[in-house]
Amino acid sequence: MSRYQTEAIRKFEALKSKKEVTILAIESSCDETAVSVVRNGREVLSNIVASQIDIHKKFGGVVPEVASRNHVMAIAGCYKEALKEAKISENDLDAIAVTYGAGLIGALLVGINFAKTLAYALNLPLIGVSHVHGHISANYISHPNLTPPFVCLMVSGGHTALLKVDDYTKIRLIGSTVDDSVGECFDKVARVLGLSYPGGPNIDRLAKSGKNVIKFNYHEPLKDTFNFSFSGLKTAVVNYVHNNEQAGREFSAEDVAASFQELVVDELSEKAVRCSLKENCKTLVVAGGVGANSRLREKLKGKCEKENIDVFFPILKYCTDNAAMVGSMAYYYLKSGIGLSDLTLTGKPNVPITI
Ligand code: KG4
Ligand code: ZN
Repeated sequence: MSRYQTEAIRKFEALKSKKEVTILAIESSCDETAVSVVRNGREVLSNIVASQIDIHKKFGGVVPEVASRNHVMAIAGCYKEALKEAKISENDLDAIAVTYGAGLIGALLVGINFAKTLAYALNLPLIGVSHVHGHISANYISHPNLTPPFVCLMVSGGHTALLKVDDYTKIRLIGSTVDDSVGECFDKVARVLGLSYPGGPNIDRLAKSGKNVIKFNYHEPLKDTFNFSFSGLKTAVVNYVHNNEQAGREFSAEDVAASFQELVVDELSEKAVRCSLKENCKTLVVAGGVGANSRLREKLKGKCEKENIDVFFPILKYCTDNAAMVGSMAYYYLKSGIGLSDLTLTGKPNVPITI
């Protein structure tokens, strides 16, 4: 074993009982280059996000190779900025954390290689974090008093799932999408309506001036289960728009957005509440980019109030990708003695949710 690794194991063990743990975290799984400093899993000392949205907008979605190149250009600057904003030096850091998956492989590798280099140069333990677990942690940095157990509705660009979070690192999958993620579905519908990438926030905005009056032609998805299916609805909306365009019929894009969004929000909120009741768990936590959706927030709050369930959403800046959530989850990995990686750490396009 290398001298670096022996030292990393020793330091990792010592951190389990250290009172103040300061972690520098890196996130580059998709189109945000992000670096953050987080103390004790809850206190965000800095949160730097360099978004590539304007670059990918031109292409209507994320172009993996373009994302990787832009991560390379942005990452060193984000790192310097994160230390500066946190008002600390490299010597104050206890560990380096990085998202190792799920995500775009080339994009992940930029963050991973930067993290490995830092860990080696500063002689610090390296902690590989699952991006999806990071999204759960976005709630710990948003709500200081929130602790497991809870049911989590995970709604991101890559995942749609119901999870039971029994403890910080005891996470079990209850149901998940059998086809598209809900974020993909929002993005596709936005695209067919001519809205720019990322589509979710634009559908959210457009739907506010529309009415839920359109009945799309599709089979209602999977009842009596905690799995989701969105591809049928997605195709039905695309067909509705194309059929009208081809026939030269006018239609309201606002109504399409509102009707589509209402179906999705109904499906997500009904299953999330039913799952909480079945698990006998009165705390429901939403995670991931689609958690920023204003109608989902409104509807879920209403349903939860009726059932006496406390519902939590991350504050908006932590809903979408950031490194603060990764630094938070790295702390809980560390306290549970998991996640210590060596310098062979590599990116994974897919990572199982359950731990
Ligand atoms: O969690 P996230 O930032 O990235 C992944 O890990 O995938 O989620 C990105 C997704 C995109 O599909 C985006 O359109 C969607 O979250 N999104 C929204 C909203 N804001 C972001 N979807 C619906 N309503 C929003 N307000
Ligand atoms: Zn994400």
